[in-house]
Amino acid sequence: MQNYQDFLAEVLITEEALQKRVTELGAEISRDYQGRNPVLICILRGGVMFLTDLMRHISIPHSIEFMAVSSYGVGSRETTGDVRITLDLNTNVSGRNVILVEDIIDSGRTIASVLELLSSRHPESLCVCALLDKATRREVYVPICYRGFTIPDRFVFGYGLDIDEYYRNLPFVGVVDLERYRPCT
Ligand code: IMP
Ligand code: MG
Repeated sequence: MQNYQDFLAEVLITEEALQKRVTELGAEISRDYQGRNPVLICILRGGVMFLTDLMRHISIPHSIEFMAVSSYGVGSRETTGDVRITLDLNTNVSGRNVILVEDIIDSGRTIASVLELLSSRHPESLCVCALLDKATRREVYVPICYRGFTIPDRFVFGYGLDIDEYYRNLPFVGVVDLERYRPCT
């Protein structure tokens, strides 16, 4: 198992910058959703660290739920067109104010399929809160209500984002030097 320092090209977003931005997003959501008791739906697993930090800064009553979808397979760096729900909600979102919490939007295919599925369940409102937006990679339109940072087309890891399922625990967002990265066997 490689130490991340061996393939870290650069720290793209520091822990301090992440915490500052997440605090701001929490305050915005608290203001915008006053009196509406939103449900935050986190897409596993990448969105977990973002969700748990974000909810600490949401001062209004809200609940959380989790969903999982298959997108990247180990070793692959591209989302396949085929996005499947591997873990569905345990709650009925009909009539609820739903905020989808995602780590990163790349091609947009993952979140677009989740949006399509959830809107068929008739929520009162539905919006996307994404920590990172790789905007130049977008293939399908995704409306983003809350955006942490727009980032360049580099493969990033840390703060919930993985490389082959590892390194999600790091408190910053780093860029992978793919020349130096060696997948575990
Ligand atoms: P999309 O369907 O192409 O928008 O891909 C979104 C999903 O791909 C995210 O939820 C991440 O799990 C994963 N992903 C996209 N870019 C990166 C990256 O740079 N690092 C880690 N995971 C990524
Ligand atoms: Mg993800």
